[in-house]
Amino acid sequence: MRKKIVAGNWKMNMTKEEGQALISEVINMANDEVKSSTVLVLCPPAPHLGYAKKMFQSQSNVFLGAQNCHEKASGAYTGEISAPMLKSFEVDYVVLGHSERREYFKESDELLKAKTDQVLANQLIPIFCCGESLSQRQAGSGFIEFVCGQLTNSLFHLSAEQFAKVVIAYEPIWAIGTGLTASSEQAQEMHAALRKHIAAQYGEALAQEIPILYGGSAKPSNAPELFACPDVDGGLIGGASLKSRDFIDIAKAIK
Ligand code: 13P
Repeated sequence: MRKKIVAGNWKMNMTKEEGQALISEVINMANDEVKSSTVLVLCPPAPHLGYAKKMFQSQSNVFLGAQNCHEKASGAYTGEISAPMLKSFEVDYVVLGHSERREYFKESDELLKAKTDQVLANQLIPIFCCGESLSQRQAGSGFIEFVCGQLTNSLFHLSAEQFAKVVIAYEPIWAIGTGLTASSEQAQEMHAALRKHIAAQYGEALAQEIPILYGGSAKPSNAPELFACPDVDGGLIGGASLKSRDFIDIAKAIK
């Protein structure tokens, strides 16, 4: 059985007080309402990581994620955060290659390859984001190959043992923060294509074990249909993860 994961990407939101309140609400609701087999990952901005872990240390299904890390282990890179540091703060997951980082910080497939190596070398789990732009989608063809290519370029140098640790998040750029969501047919089509692409490289058995999450304007109203798709293993949630009720309702959509 593949892991089912609902991860909240807070992006650059939340003061300390707001973050603490959100985490305590999420923990309380998760205890009462979310199946223990559903993995929750909270990905706050870096300043929250230290206290956040302490707040849910006793929760067996709540994990901590960072939103990024540097490709080097240490050094003179003012303002950056390394994978060994994240590990020392007991971070479990690291989001890599979010489209906002690809666009605003010019992160390339090549750079993300190095970041993935760094994350895995520190026993952290990468949540590797991929997805096409609106113009690529509207062109009507080639967008599936493009997204598969993002995996090839940044991940397919990994050994099967390393790749087995990776979580994929398909986030169509046109659906992020826009209120537009991929239909369940569009999500399933891409997720199945990604799994097939992984199977061609690593074999069917390994491909069947890789969680592939959907991200892009996921909310309580559309999560049940999206998560019912056979190749959709949960979600990477932006805006709706900032509201405890919405985030938990999305997590409850995992059957
Ligand atoms: P929204 O859920 O706000 O569309 O953001 C999705 C996302 O980018 C998660 O990483």
